[in-house]
Amino acid sequence: AQADEARAKKIAGGSCFLCHGANGESTSELFPRLAGQHAEYIAKQLDAFKTGKRKSTAMSEMVAKLTPDEMLALGKYYEKMSLPREEAKDPQLAGMGRYIYHNGNKFSGVPACVSCHGTNGEGAANLPRLATQFSGYIHNQLKSFNKRERTNDNAVMHTVVEKMTELEMAAVAEYVSSK
Ligand code: HEM
Ligand code: HEM
Repeated sequence: AQADEARAKKIAGGSCFLCHGANGESTSELFPRLAGQHAEYIAKQLDAFKTGKRKSTAMSEMVAKLTPDEMLALGKYYEKMSLPREEAKDPQLAGMGRYIYHNGNKFSGVPACVSCHGTNGEGAANLPRLATQFSGYIHNQLKSFNKRERTNDNAVMHTVVEKMTELEMAAVAEYVSSK
């Protein structure tokens, strides 16, 4: 396990930090924060980038030579890190997002996010943490699921976003990323 940790540190410090930051905080909203993200989820995404199930020009190059053990070691490495929750930049938008996150939109058939992503957006194993993630990144991923550009094994997120409006996506992203 110690060898795995050293290996992860070496890989992260050699390339990942350039985009995802030395502490998983990321250097731009275009790059997801990895601090506190679940190890299993990270490993699964790295494998998806490698097999081409999830497309990203930046990431496909990064993962080309990674083994499954290294993917999990990198996941564990970032999972241990944490970032403080920040205040929402747009509290009104976040307020709308709070309702949708916890209740969905029963008028249009959008499900609640809380059942999978947790009361505080903390997620679990293969359910990604959304708390402390950039709202801009979350919003982009929702749009990407909506356009079916980002695929997902069991298509669960495709069903979730199917009936969401642009405003609902922005609102829920603003809410769950902040406190
Ligand atoms: C996404 C890990 C290097 C740019 C991701 C994700 C993971 C990850 C786990 C998905 C996160 C999520 O779904 O929440 C790593 C590791 C790296 C690395 C372990 C080093 C081996 C880089 C570098 C860049 C980069 C150097 C920039 C050149 C991106 C981008 C995305 C991403 C743009 C988002 C792709 C999308 O929008 O779907 N990375 N990364 N990564 N990474 Fe990296
Ligand atoms: C992934 C948001 C509801 C299961 C994601 C991601 C986002 C998101 C932004 C990508 C995270 C990242 O790239 O780091 C939401 C929102 C929801 C919602 C805003 C409510 C409107 C649900 C529900 C379920 C679910 C109800 C379970 C039935 C998943 C799973 C993934 C995921 C399994 C990972 C997909 C993968 O492996 O690529 N969600 N989600 N989500 N969500 Fe949701």
